Amino acid sequence: MRVCVCATPEQATARVVARIARTVRENPRAVLGLATGGTMEPVYRGLIEAHRAGLGFAGVTSFNLDEYVGLDPAHPQSYHSYMRRHFFDHVDIPADRRFLPCGDCDPAEAAAIFEARLEQHGPVDLQLLGLGHNGHIGFNEPGSSLGSLTREKTLTRRTRDANARFFRPGEVPPQSAITMGIATIMRARSIVLLALGAAKAEAVAEVVEGPVTAFCPGSALQYHRDVSVILDEGAAKDLR
Ligand code: F6R
Repeated sequence: MRVCVCATPEQATARVVARIARTVRENPRAVLGLATGGTMEPVYRGLIEAHRAGLGFAGVTSFNLDEYVGLDPAHPQSYHSYMRRHFFDHVDIPADRRFLPCGDCDPAEAAAIFEARLEQHGPVDLQLLGLGHNGHIGFNEPGSSLGSLTREKTLTRRTRDANARFFRPGEVPPQSAITMGIATIMRARSIVLLALGAAKAEAVAEVVEGPVTAFCPGSALQYHRDVSVILDEGAAKDLR
């Protein structure tokens, strides 16, 4: 695990953008694993800027980590919508090569189809990850099997509370999501995890320095041969 502590969130974000851009420049047919959430919004802004400056995504295939169960792709808070709004509508990844789990299908079927697509187009060359306050990666909540594949996962109250900010007041955030499993994520050739701010510091310390345990799903990354953890000073503050 390579840990890189940047002075500011902007510098950490720029580092991740540069890493993704380099991957695509070196391999225009790269398979990218993508994430959503607040941390990733500036990453996509940076990639859109790189695209406007000439970086082409026309040969890229993308796989998103997760999607809420029960949300139509057109729902503004679905990850399908998030990805269109923050990235896909602004770059040239062909629509038939952007894969997200289907949120409004039978979850078991959607998960099997997603794994089959990964089998067909993968492996993922570079997987982008954020980190939950409870150590989740994708929506693999604490207690997730380290051998898990894509499946439906019930979200913890803490995750639902953290994500409630993206929903309209009174709207109940979904109770579960379809997420790549931990073993699915671990099949990526390279992984970049971005965590920013002191609120993530405890989870970061568990992921990087804690024991490998299903109670902190991100700790499984210690077993991967090519992981970069990019942090700002806030997120790094609990590292020894
Ligand atoms: C989203 C995802 C999640 C988020 C994590 C952090 O696709 O997989 O693991 O990366 O919940 O979210 P933010 O960045 O909103 O703190």
